[in-house]
Amino acid sequence: MTTQINIAIDGPAGAGKSTVAKLLAEKLQFVYIDTGAMYRALTWKAIDENIDVNNEQLLNELLKQTDIQLVNQSGVIGIKLNDQDVTETIRSARVTNHVSYVAKHSLIRKEMVAKQQKLAEQGGTVMDGRDIGTAVLPDADVKIFLTATVEERARRRHEEQLSKGMPSDFEQLKRDIAKRDQLDSEREIAPLKKAVDAIEIDSTSMTIEEVVEHIYAIVVERNGTIE
Ligand code: CDP
Ligand code: CDP
Repeated sequence: MTTQINIAIDGPAGAGKSTVAKLLAEKLQFVYIDTGAMYRALTWKAIDENIDVNNEQLLNELLKQTDIQLVNQSGVIGIKLNDQDVTETIRSARVTNHVSYVAKHSLIRKEMVAKQQKLAEQGGTVMDGRDIGTAVLPDADVKIFLTATVEERARRRHEEQLSKGMPSDFEQLKRDIAKRDQLDSEREIAPLKKAVDAIEIDSTSMTIEEVVEHIYAIVVERNGTIE
């Protein structure tokens, strides 16, 4: 039986984690949990309320007053903050460039990790982030560490922005991604790193479908077919 297992997908920005996790969750009829969206939502609120992203105490108070809900309405996955739909706003460049500063604080991580662990309590989840295999779900049944070169990850984000009709500067994107990778990998608490028992997949030359199929095959091999 595979229905109760949890699948952890970690990796750097733009590696394809959320795209792949969503499709895999659909295929398995699991719940997709986007932990990055939770840190982004708090960051958006902090910016909105003019709270310094380095002020851990104020951020923690803000988090305590903030209800963050991951929602799945007829297959459309989003996020609500105090009942306000923030699915699109949390993807802004401003939020992206501040989120790693919010996510480095131990009080914030403690609270977020507890929420994430609760969401996975019953199993049947595909959860993506930076510390899922190492800190949130150290006992996850399948752990994937998804990577791609920084050039490829910047190229993907660039294409994504152009396809939405948004302005995009490839070199700037590359610098921003490299900076975020560095902040996420070098922070003291739960840094981005491959769990010792995670399977690393370099997706640089792989299509989305190839990555999904590859992980699906790993899940089936470990846990049997899903009926
Ligand atoms: O989608 P993208 O790779 O751009 O980022 P994300 O998954 O939305 O995560 C945004 C940021 O939240 C990351 O750069 C990390 O700073 C933080 N994060 C984290 O610290 N731990 C997680 N489990 C997920 C995200
Ligand atoms: O969640 P993460 O930041 O790791 O990446 P994502 O938002 O899922 O993927 C970034 C972009 O790369 C999306 O536009 C995906 O469609 C694209 N992508 C791709 O072109 N090829 C892959 N193998 C994976 C993702």
